[in-house]
Amino acid sequence: DKGGWSSFMAKEIAEDPQAVEDTIRGRISNGTVRLPDLEALSDEYFRDIDRILLIACGTAYYSGLTGAYALEQWTRVPVTVELAHEFRYREPVISDRTLVVSLSQSGETMDTLLAVRFARESGAKTISICNTQGATIPRESDSVVYTYAGPEVAVASTKAFVAQIAAIYLLGLHIAKVRQTLTDEEIRVETTEFQTIPDKLRETLTHHESIKELAGWMADTRSVLFLGRHTGYPIALEGALKLKEIAYIHAEGFAAGELKHGPIALIEPGQPVFVMVPSPRHDNGLHAKIVSNIEEIRARGAHVLSVAEGGDASVLPYSEAVFATPPTSVFFEPFLKVVPLQIFALELSTAKGLDVDQPRNLAKSVTVE
Ligand code: F6R
Repeated sequence: DKGGWSSFMAKEIAEDPQAVEDTIRGRISNGTVRLPDLEALSDEYFRDIDRILLIACGTAYYSGLTGAYALEQWTRVPVTVELAHEFRYREPVISDRTLVVSLSQSGETMDTLLAVRFARESGAKTISICNTQGATIPRESDSVVYTYAGPEVAVASTKAFVAQIAAIYLLGLHIAKVRQTLTDEEIRVETTEFQTIPDKLRETLTHHESIKELAGWMADTRSVLFLGRHTGYPIALEGALKLKEIAYIHAEGFAAGELKHGPIALIEPGQPVFVMVPSPRHDNGLHAKIVSNIEEIRARGAHVLSVAEGGDASVLPYSEAVFATPPTSVFFEPFLKVVPLQIFALELSTAKGLDVDQPRNLAKSVTVE
């Protein structure tokens, strides 16, 4: 039941806040994290791991790429992210100290399932981050951290994506607590910010109409580029995937630092480019770098569409449009930044008169290899 919405995808984007809220409910309290879900894996096990490998496909892979930044920062365990279908077809080095975490909304994706089986046979322990109770992947894993996004009907994944990042963060905080790589105070700071995210997502959703207006003007666009750095990079990739998938538009996501190594040659007058602008308050120096990228592409005639923190005036002179997100700390930005991109894909597909929920050639659950 679409509950009055024009499509399941529209309804499910509106449920982004609830998906995060329900995924962290009962797992964060009194400034710390509790994951009884993981009781099959002892504290001693988590102290002993020397590597974490995230495996998934599609949007779930991008949630892995996004979550990996905080996961490695918080746990101080090296984290790599790999496409499930690539992983099995080389001879990856895996040991009993490798933790393999799969990400799957459906829990039935064959490529991911086969990668999980392969990891177990190779001696690794496996954790499934999954949105479907009792699905095959969680049943075949050592442990599971469910996401509680509720059923996702639209083929294009939206609320499951934000819930997956939330689950990676819960896992990261749990491991950091066990390994004492974050202090209790640092965990309190992160969990306190984490709990503000559902409301900040609600605030971000209030810009739906202005994004719809932009999408309406852009219905004839043939190509859209997305740029980001740090966690903004996988968000750029995800924004591009959404557009390909439901609006059938050629779209590419790039790491902004990579522009000068090739992709800047693509910039010609009128080329729309979404840019994920990190907060100027973060002390990682990335804001200035992105602003200079914006100046470069703007000088070549690009139409810059910025997703930036509300009140960040530095991008205004160079942007055709700015979509504001509420302030948050560095690792929580991707939750908010992805929302305008989800809405943009939805509204561009709608403006083109396409079937938003059932894009051509795609199935919700890919149960063949
Ligand atoms: C994109 C999308 C797909 C899925 C991918 C993995 O919007 O929905 O890319 O993310 O097929 O599916 P799950 O998460 O069910 O393993």
